[in-house]
Amino acid sequence: MDKFIERLPKVELHCHIEGTLEPELMFKIGKRNGIELPFNSVDEVKAAYDFTNLQSFLDIYYQGTNVLLHEEDFYEMTAAYLTRIKKQNVRHTEIFFDPQTHTGRGVPFETLIKGITRALRESDISSKLILCFLRHLSAAEAMKTLEEALPYKKWITAVGLDSSEKDNPPEKFKEVFDRAREEGFLAVAHAGEEGSADYIWQALKLLNACRIDHGVRCIEDPKLVQHLKSRHIPLTVCPLSNVKLCLFKEMKDHNIKELFDAGLLVTINSDDPAYFGGYIEENFKAVAAALSLTKEQIYQIARNGIEASFLSKDEKQELFNEIDHYLYSQV
Ligand code: HPA
Ligand code: ZN
Repeated sequence: MDKFIERLPKVELHCHIEGTLEPELMFKIGKRNGIELPFNSVDEVKAAYDFTNLQSFLDIYYQGTNVLLHEEDFYEMTAAYLTRIKKQNVRHTEIFFDPQTHTGRGVPFETLIKGITRALRESDISSKLILCFLRHLSAAEAMKTLEEALPYKKWITAVGLDSSEKDNPPEKFKEVFDRAREEGFLAVAHAGEEGSADYIWQALKLLNACRIDHGVRCIEDPKLVQHLKSRHIPLTVCPLSNVKLCLFKEMKDHNIKELFDAGLLVTINSDDPAYFGGYIEENFKAVAAALSLTKEQIYQIARNGIEASFLSKDEKQELFNEIDHYLYSQV
């Protein structure tokens, strides 16, 4: 099964570019920029990655981003991620970035977007960018960020919503998302990770999200499951993340198979691979092993990733052909 997963053509739809910053690169960039980290070694950093919930992770994740100052830093981080996923046979990736994490420290929007997009342009992996608003900050700050992004609109496909979910419901950002859609952006949102199923309803009804990031708590509301199923609304599930952040005790307790069996358009993604113990391939492998998935089920989940992407009909068809050809070559 591991070999099957390694060679399977894959699409990633939920990866925060700041969450791909490996400790080694964090130290290298930090040293170059004269930024002190509160850790003495890579091993010390890794030992700190012992999270109890989403907030305990976010505190460390935002700290790690402090080393990123110059265009070159954003370029290097993005290029490193693309090099990694190239080896994992990822054909297309839709990447989140958190501009407020950087503009809040005085890094200009232009600096970070230029670094990220230069790396994306140089890669032969196709990609889309999704600008995430930090939901623990105000709607006014999100609106200001959207306005800062407008000159770079052609590089950004969608807007999203991330950071601390509890007590920061999607409804807080309704106006921002209305404006973003008027400007031509698609909308996605993290919902139903730690927040309740009601936050998923809000993301769909108030923000017009066409894809739900995580969404695993939809299972608590059968009507919502039926709605997601009948409208083919994808869930970008991140299994290793969910176990690391204690949504599920162990991988064998994860509900992804239940969601899949309910007929939902479930995909597998890495979220913050440098923090959660693996990239997309490791996520596929962990789920397949813990939940005894068949090759056909793994193929179907990878196929869902193509289906749920923001690629054009023709681009999707090309990838469907490739993955179908791969499956037939294996049986
Ligand atoms: N949830 C919310 N915010 C995030 C995450 C996540 O999994 N990763 C990075 N920011
Ligand atoms: Zn996420």
